[in-house]
Amino acid sequence: MSDTTANRRDFLKGAGALAAAGSLPLSLVEIAFADASETFRFAYISDAHIQHIEGTKFVRNWDRGLIRAVAEANLLTPKPDFVVFGGDLAQLGTKAELDHGAEMLSRLSYKTYCVMGEHDYYLDLGAYWSELFGPHHHSWDHKGVHFVVLNSVLTYDDWTHNRWPSAEQRMLEMAGLDNPNSSPFMVGEKQREWLRQDLQKVDKGTPLVVFSHSPLQKIYKGWNFWTEDAEEIQALLRPFAKATVIYGHVHQIQYNQIGNITFHAVMATAWPWPYPQSYAQAQHNLPKLTVPMNRANPFFERDATGWQFIDTSTGRVAMEYNLYNNTTRKVAYNPATGQPEDSAFQDPPRRIPPQNHY
Ligand SMILES: [Fe+2]
Ligand SMILES: [Fe+2]
Repeated sequence: MSDTTANRRDFLKGAGALAAAGSLPLSLVEIAFADASETFRFAYISDAHIQHIEGTKFVRNWDRGLIRAVAEANLLTPKPDFVVFGGDLAQLGTKAELDHGAEMLSRLSYKTYCVMGEHDYYLDLGAYWSELFGPHHHSWDHKGVHFVVLNSVLTYDDWTHNRWPSAEQRMLEMAGLDNPNSSPFMVGEKQREWLRQDLQKVDKGTPLVVFSHSPLQKIYKGWNFWTEDAEEIQALLRPFAKATVIYGHVHQIQYNQIGNITFHAVMATAWPWPYPQSYAQAQHNLPKLTVPMNRANPFFERDATGWQFIDTSTGRVAMEYNLYNNTTRKVAYNPATGQPEDSAFQDPPRRIPPQNHY
C-alpha cells in the first residue's frame, strides 16, 4: 500500500463515527477448536457492488448495505480478530467505485483481508484494486488455522485480451449475470501451482480455510456459479482432514460437502440473486444439501441479505446467518453425518412458503 493510501485511510478512520443500524449483511466466524486453547472469530462481508452514478453520486442502497455491515462489525462483542471482504466491492471496477468502497471498508476497526471479485477485476485486470488492497492471492496462519485467499475470477487469455474493443466493454460483458458472452471463471494454472507449493508446507491436520469469490465447485455455468478448474483445486485440498471453502458471488445461502471439503456461501450486502433451480433454463441446480431460503421480497430492500457468525468448533465451520429481520439460520457441520446441515431449517413445516414470481 502506498504512503498516500495509508495516510488517506488513517485520516478516514478518524473521520467520524458511523450511524449504527439494524440488520446486517456480514458474516462472523467463530473458531473454537476442541484440541486448541485459543478461540477466535472473524467477520465476513461480501458483494457490496458500490455503483457510481456521476460526480459524487453513488447508488444509495448499495452504499447503505456496506455502511451498515461495517458499523455492525465495529460493534461486535466479542470482537472479531479480522474481517474478510469477499469480492465485488465495485460494480464496474472504476477508481471512483473502488475508492468509495475502500473508504467505507477503512472504517473497520480490524485488519481486513480482501478477495477479488469479477466486478473489481475486469476493467484494469485488478491493477488499481492491488494498489488499495495488495496481492490477488496470498495465505497466512492465524491461531492454528491456515487461511488462503485465491483470485478465482480469472478466465481464458483470449477472452480477456483479444475479444473486446475496450476495457470498459470487457467489464460490461463480465458484469452481467446471465450474459452468454461471458466466460467461465478459473483460478488458473499459475495460481494453482502457487497453491500447491503453499499447501505443501502445511501439516495436513491443520484446519484449512480457503476464501474465493466464485464457488470452487460447479453449480451453474450459465451464471458463472462455477469455477472451471474446481476439480483441480479440490484435489489440492483433498489431503487436509478439515478443509473449508467460503465464497461470495452467488449472493445467497448455499452449502455442500464434497469428500473432505465443506463449502459455504455468504450473503451479499447489496442484493440477493435468485436460486438457479428456480429458472427453467438451469442445467445445474443448487448443491444437493442446500435448503433454499424464501426470497426475495421486492418491497423490502434488505430482504435475503444478512450477516453470518461462523463457529468452527472441532475445526469445521458452522455459519450462523443473521437475516434482515433479526432471525437466524445456522448451517453447521454435523460430525455424525459428515456434512453441513441446516440445523434450524430442515423441517419443511417450519419454512416460510416459497413465493411465486411472474
Ligand atoms: Fe456479486
Ligand atoms: Fe461476483
